[in-house]
Amino acid sequence: MTDYVTVTSDAPEGRTGAIKLHGRAAFDGMHRAGRLCAETLDMLVPHMVPGVTTAEIDRLAYDFITARGGVPATLGYRGYTHSTCISINHVVCHGIPSEKTLKSGDIVNVDVTPILDGWHGDSSRMYLIGDVPLKAKRLVEVTYECLMLGLEQAKPGNHLGDVAHAIQRHAERHRYGVVRDFCGHGLGRLFHDAPEVVHVGKPGTGPELKPGMIFTVEPMINIGRPDVKLLDDGWTAVTRDRSLSAQFEHSIGITEQGCEIFTLSPKGWHAPPYL
Ligand code: MF3
Ligand code: CO
Ligand code: CO
Repeated sequence: MTDYVTVTSDAPEGRTGAIKLHGRAAFDGMHRAGRLCAETLDMLVPHMVPGVTTAEIDRLAYDFITARGGVPATLGYRGYTHSTCISINHVVCHGIPSEKTLKSGDIVNVDVTPILDGWHGDSSRMYLIGDVPLKAKRLVEVTYECLMLGLEQAKPGNHLGDVAHAIQRHAERHRYGVVRDFCGHGLGRLFHDAPEVVHVGKPGTGPELKPGMIFTVEPMINIGRPDVKLLDDGWTAVTRDRSLSAQFEHSIGITEQGCEIFTLSPKGWHAPPYL
């Protein structure tokens, strides 16, 4: 049985396993945190060029977020010491910023999670560096479509399985693999909360969606097999078959009508090309 709990105060609430149904104050806070998150991803657009190091991108995000009163949630999170995750080509997620430089042809995901006034914004986008082969561009396009088709199913009365099914169906129609090892998640005052938001599934299964639920959807889609492998650094997840992987993530809240996306780009830079 799925447990739901209505959050009545805006005091911090712990991880109980129950799915929180948030009120107006939470939605307002999430809109502000989500906007800062999206503005950070917008700010990075002109910097995502050949020759820049991923550590420089991480620094830009840190400076931007902290100058606006935010704190990167990933700093010190389970021993992680960076402000972003930057995942290049066959890296599925949780790539660690380093002195590695971007090169023409790379496809790159940047994932940022600012905390603003106690609320978490969590979003990631893909960036195309220089001249990207059509095959890789196509993966990025279809991955964005997967996210948005999933979000179309995010409405009261539907189930998380409907969101997952829409994503899986679109990816597999293109013979791509949907990563099973990482999921979306509830968030709010907590970074990772119930429910677990899977990206493969059957319609009508999983928790029912109710107004007030706040969670991320963040499908990772591979050109090849879904299987991932964790590198020795304990964070970097790569495709086992070394095929390219792409991801987009939004933070959303379920409303009476459907969902609100907290992390929409103010510049309309939803998916590449951005300029
Ligand atoms: N932002 C990631 C997510 O979408 C989590 C990154 S945790 C880190 O849930 F420690 F790897 F940064
Ligand atoms: Co994220
Ligand atoms: Co997330």
